[in-house]
Amino acid sequence: MSPEEKDARYAEAAQNIAAVLAGEPDPIARMATVACLLSQALPYYFWTGFYRVDAEKPDELVIGPYQGTLGCLRIPFGRGVCGAAAASGETQIVADVHAFPGHIACDSRSRSEIVVPVRDARGRLIAVFDVDSLEVGSFDERDADWLQRILEASFSVPASAPAEAG
Ligand code: SME
Repeated sequence: MSPEEKDARYAEAAQNIAAVLAGEPDPIARMATVACLLSQALPYYFWTGFYRVDAEKPDELVIGPYQGTLGCLRIPFGRGVCGAAAASGETQIVADVHAFPGHIACDSRSRSEIVVPVRDARGRLIAVFDVDSLEVGSFDERDADWLQRILEASFSVPASAPAEAG
């Protein structure tokens, strides 16, 4: 997909997400909405969803709202791409998951992946947002920038006053 088309699709998704989330405080409802609207907006999104930091086990991720085939239920911090994003607090872009040590293959058809940390208004890590594609090299810095902006607008500002992303 051309950079211009990516920008156009992300910009439209960001506007739709901000409009739908306005006034909705529940974080699971917000996660479900973000996963749905992004997976509909970007044709190369094969698996799209959240792994949440488990309140009972703060060094473990547990599955949250997602769109796609069956996802693994739990991922310890430090394992796989999601665990690396949670442990480091940094976005992970993996062009070829077969080359990533410890990658967790929930669906063996996934070939590339991006995982973005999600923080609340106090800056605490609450989840990671994971997208898998069937093709190698689907994700780049443009995806990372847009996803970081959309996730920040959706989860890092008070729910009563949602900011517009994009
Ligand atoms: N591939 C991920 C696991 C989650 S799924 O793909 C849904 C990882 O290695 O973190």
